[in-house]
Amino acid sequence: MSKKLMPIWLAIDTSCDDTSASVTSGRQAWSSVIASQTDLHRPYGGVFPTLAKQAHRQNIGPVVKLALQRAQIKPAQLTGIAVTSGPGLAPALEIGLDYAKQLATTWHKPLLPINHLEGHALSVLIQPRTSKKARPRLHLSTELKWPVLSLVMSGGHSSFILINQPGQYQILGETLDDALGEALDKVGRLLNLGYPAGPVMEQLALLGNPNRFKFPLPLTTTKTYNLSFSGLKTAASQLIARLGSTELTAADIQDLAASWQQAAFRHLLYKLAKILTDHPEIKEVWLGGGVASNLTLRRELRQLLKKYQLKLKVPGKKNWCTDNAAMIGLAASLHQVSQAITAQQLAKIDRQPDWSLATVKY
Ligand code: KG4
Ligand code: ZN
Repeated sequence: MSKKLMPIWLAIDTSCDDTSASVTSGRQAWSSVIASQTDLHRPYGGVFPTLAKQAHRQNIGPVVKLALQRAQIKPAQLTGIAVTSGPGLAPALEIGLDYAKQLATTWHKPLLPINHLEGHALSVLIQPRTSKKARPRLHLSTELKWPVLSLVMSGGHSSFILINQPGQYQILGETLDDALGEALDKVGRLLNLGYPAGPVMEQLALLGNPNRFKFPLPLTTTKTYNLSFSGLKTAASQLIARLGSTELTAADIQDLAASWQQAAFRHLLYKLAKILTDHPEIKEVWLGGGVASNLTLRRELRQLLKKYQLKLKVPGKKNWCTDNAAMIGLAASLHQVSQAITAQQLAKIDRQPDWSLATVKY
């Protein structure tokens, strides 16, 4: 391959309940296919690992095939395969990783294990394909202003990640218990809003009075930038029990959604303001993860950031907020191709359900 050409990655993500594949080159996603399992897990009110594994096994082949077809790419044109090897649900990770290893062996391509959180943290950088020929070079260390603070707010993670330079990740704070999306889902479940409840809570909150019910502001006495949503969740559970869950009117549910969401976001913004005050060197703030599609959260973040003369960047599409493989391909583009594992060494790679982003190196 000529040195001037950007690598082309087939990326695969099966970290939780979405089976996803994407072909990417540089910042461009040439295809992005996601087979969602939401309907399958809805009756259980959360992700059922054994069912997730079965569905990944069924979906992975067709999803990869479609991603290649939509990008109009043949396996021989790929530089390699990038796959999420952690963090995530172990049985779900296993399916994506095993499939990626099989493809790497059959096609004689190198395999690059990618950290799922690195994908979310960088997801604002994904761009749609602009032309069939374009392969933009990545000069991120000079193109963008660093350091960046990336907020990953999803169903599995809530983290403040300081990126000093591409590849240098420092976790400034993270949730000590539930992730923000997970807590929204749990409170929504108490209100019988179905699964996942985060997007429903957002819509109901728009109709409700956010000041009707008072919730505490967590972790105000600690100096850390960590988050905690489980106390707020317990407070909601006690309040709903007091009001009588079967007695709630539509207006009560809207007010509860509005008040709880406001309390959760206030907690996030309180800690973010602390970080921005203590770290005046931060040049940009990015937002990723499923909760990043919440428009109220985006608006509140923008208001806060204005005080610090900072702008918020969000992923270009809703599908790039939630779990997707385009973000895995994007992250792969920032790594050296030489970091990828050759077909002979594949046996050495295993899933890493607890892989910390802080240990990722370029
Ligand atoms: O990133 P994601 O697809 O999966 C994980 O990596 O965890 O995030 C899913 C989470 C769910 O908890 C869902 O309720 C939440 O993101 N979510 C939202 C919204 N859309 C998805 N939460 C609040 N407002 C939304 N609009
Ligand atoms: Zn995720």
